[in-house]
Amino acid sequence: MKILIIGSGGREHALAWKLAQSPRVEKIFTAPGNAGTATLGENVPLSAQDIPALLAFAKSKSIDLTVVGPDDSLADGIVDGFEKENLRIFGPCAAAARLESSKIFAKEFMRRHGIPTAESREFTDSLEAHDWCKQARFPLVIKADGLALGKGVIIAQTPLEAALAIHRSMDLGVFGDAGRQVVVEEFLEGPECSLHALVDGENTCLFPEARDHKRAFDGDTGPNTGGMGTVSPVGALNPGLQKRIQTEVMDRFLAGIKADGLKFRGMLFPGLILTANGPKVLEFNCRFGDPETQVLLRRLKSDLLDLLEACIDGTLAQQTPQWDDRTAVCVVLASGGYPAAYEKGKPITGLAAAEAEPGIILFHAGTRQTGNDIVTNGGRVLGVTALAADVQTARDQAYAAADRIHFDQCQRREDIARS
Ligand code: AMP
Ligand code: GLY
Repeated sequence: MKILIIGSGGREHALAWKLAQSPRVEKIFTAPGNAGTATLGENVPLSAQDIPALLAFAKSKSIDLTVVGPDDSLADGIVDGFEKENLRIFGPCAAAARLESSKIFAKEFMRRHGIPTAESREFTDSLEAHDWCKQARFPLVIKADGLALGKGVIIAQTPLEAALAIHRSMDLGVFGDAGRQVVVEEFLEGPECSLHALVDGENTCLFPEARDHKRAFDGDTGPNTGGMGTVSPVGALNPGLQKRIQTEVMDRFLAGIKADGLKFRGMLFPGLILTANGPKVLEFNCRFGDPETQVLLRRLKSDLLDLLEACIDGTLAQQTPQWDDRTAVCVVLASGGYPAAYEKGKPITGLAAAEAEPGIILFHAGTRQTGNDIVTNGGRVLGVTALAADVQTARDQAYAAADRIHFDQCQRREDIARS
């Protein structure tokens, strides 16, 4: 089969790496891809947002299956466009992907279907939001309604911080249209957990849990990022919790999409906080996580292509994915300054030495080949991913390999998988 992967991050490199292992895959194209995906097939110089051009490409190359990485391509209706032309594509249609692209829509969906989540209020008028915050309990969480590259969530400790967050998002428009409406919600306490589940419309297939480290700096300080590192498994879910998540989140989600007439076939990735009162959903993502995918796919023993196709065909009930019991750890190397402004084009050295370390696969993210050099080309540059018998060894291996890699102003966290 010929596969087209849409996107250019570490997640897409991990998807290409795993799909390349399927005996049924004959060629992988990635649009636009990075220096890592180029080694597994062919990069196509098309933007992940250029749906008409991607559609024309898929037709011209007789692509058998397209797999979508980024949320904005889904929100823009790439799946609807491909399906209209009878092209096979993995991911939810735009109406269902709104569960990620509008936090207000997601909150209303969760309330309607009894899915446990933080208490919240939604605002389209900034004066009302300011007024409401005056009598609220702190800390409070202020979230831009739309997609903001993982940066649209502010945890306000004081009324002044809340007022500033509301002003910046709603009045100044620092997140563009995505932040003109906001969700203000209670701050939840407890360990965080990233879940992934394939959904075929009738069934869900839960993956093992992972944990992301979203803040930029050690000790969970600094601004939120797309994710600075991941670990799986986490050991946070006992069988009782797992059962609650299945019945209170997954089963109610399935019943909800059916009741609302939403066609959801793809990956559901709920972010959860495990509170003293049980699991609560922070958000629904409608795609593979980045860098969660890097650790999950290192642990997946089954053929990913079979799973993606079962999702599209509605035969997920017949699949039982097999998982490696070992622990995977992914340490992200980012450009200095990320998630704010950063420079690109810095030459990267030590990649081969890093990859020669035991247990390591390097997943490229913001990288680009120029001549004989690989240079930085984005905020998150590489995901150094180890797989080992226990978390300590996996951590040590990932950091030993990361130490081999150099580029000017490389930024990373030192405490991935430590908490
Ligand atoms: P989200 O994009 O909604 O997942 O939020 C990004 C990050 O902000 C989450 O991974 C949490 O670390 C934090 N966060 C979001 N909502 C809450 C909340 N209600 N309580 C505590 N932390 C939150
Ligand atoms: N790592 C978090 C995300 O992909 O949204």
